[in-house]
Amino acid sequence: MATPDTTITQNTDGASGAAAPNGKGPDGETPSLSSQTQAVHAGEKRYISHDSVTVPIVQTSTYTFEDTASLINYMEEHMFWDVPEREEYGRYGNPTVRAAESKLAALDGAEDALLLSSGMAAITTTLFILLSQGDHFVMTEDCYRRTRGFCNTFLTRFGITCTTVAPGDYDAIEAAIGPATKLIFSESPTNPFLRCVDYARLVDIAKRHGLRTIIDTTFATPCNVRPLEYGVDLAIHSVTKYLAGHNDLLAGCVTGSFSITTALRQSQGILGAIVDPHCAYLILRGLKTLGLRMRQHNESALRIARYLEDHPMIRRVWYPGLESHPDHDVATRTMSGYGGVISFEVEADGPTTSRFIDACNIARIGPSLGGVESLIEQPGLVSYFDTAPEDRLALGITDELVRLSVGIEDTDDLLADFEQALSKM
Ligand SMILES: Cc1ncc(COP(=O)(O)O)c(C=O)c1O
Repeated sequence: MATPDTTITQNTDGASGAAAPNGKGPDGETPSLSSQTQAVHAGEKRYISHDSVTVPIVQTSTYTFEDTASLINYMEEHMFWDVPEREEYGRYGNPTVRAAESKLAALDGAEDALLLSSGMAAITTTLFILLSQGDHFVMTEDCYRRTRGFCNTFLTRFGITCTTVAPGDYDAIEAAIGPATKLIFSESPTNPFLRCVDYARLVDIAKRHGLRTIIDTTFATPCNVRPLEYGVDLAIHSVTKYLAGHNDLLAGCVTGSFSITTALRQSQGILGAIVDPHCAYLILRGLKTLGLRMRQHNESALRIARYLEDHPMIRRVWYPGLESHPDHDVATRTMSGYGGVISFEVEADGPTTSRFIDACNIARIGPSLGGVESLIEQPGLVSYFDTAPEDRLALGITDELVRLSVGIEDTDDLLADFEQALSKM
């Protein structure tokens, strides 16, 4: 398995609450640290107010100026383009939020990160800002349903068109590129079939055509792969999932070059999809255990996927760690873990599949993924409940399809619980 080369960052600068935008210390040193160490320390100042070991929650909507001269000085220096050393108003920035952004940037090996109010806010803001009327983009077909809806219906109202192609079909991606094409967007691994992008191939196509690449890497996290290292322009995460990790908040982030995140940050100040400081604190706290959690998610999901694949009541399993998965080789080459989500089809009809799910005592029925609690669902009854059966079947969403987000419970307990639940069908 690939091992990401992780570097940087601890912010040790003075009194300002904000970490440097690129997450680097003031002296520019970039010591080589593992993502586990970065998750604990990156983006946080070594000495902060009241000698607190944790980043304080700066619970304020606005910031005051000592006198008019300092206000004018601030406005002149930082009005539009710079990341200020202090804050002006809560919609434009907050020290707790900036610390979380700095940690996220360090984890992805990015110059900068921008936190937004949800994963969807990160996706919609990014596409709104990078695309204009008359533009076209290419996206891969297997993806979160709301993202597909935004691209195929919402953006068309603004004269922006999109071509969806099958994941893994790089010839189709290239064939879909035309004179108006501006970018390629894909999830990796995808939701729900865990298709994994060959980043080098995708970036090669994009560079030859002068396009940007954006990867929604929610299912992977920087612990398993850092797409920016392959030349991808922007990584998007639903922070709601693994990064925050506790099924207790909604947030999203975009990581990439400072020039793009600055443009996004300015738009966020207008569009308004910000996170509040308490949410940012919970993200900082969740991120501290990201490495530990991902190790457990990766190990446990691989064991459970193998168990399910061998079970006579399971028709098919999609998990990139299995040799049977179409992207097993790509995932093994590029990722240091296969993640915690498994999709599988039960050898039964929809109602019998529901009986198996109802019999699970540990995994709970619910949408979402990436938290410490295992969650299980039939996508046909959740994301695709209001979709015509023929439309969802065309996407592979059968009645018997189950998506399992493996939490951090003991693997043997989970396996025993699935065994008893499968025996009840
Ligand atoms: C891959 C992926 N991206 C984005 C989102 C949207 O994230 P949020 O719910 O934080 O808006 C989801 C939600 O499930 C997702 O699975």
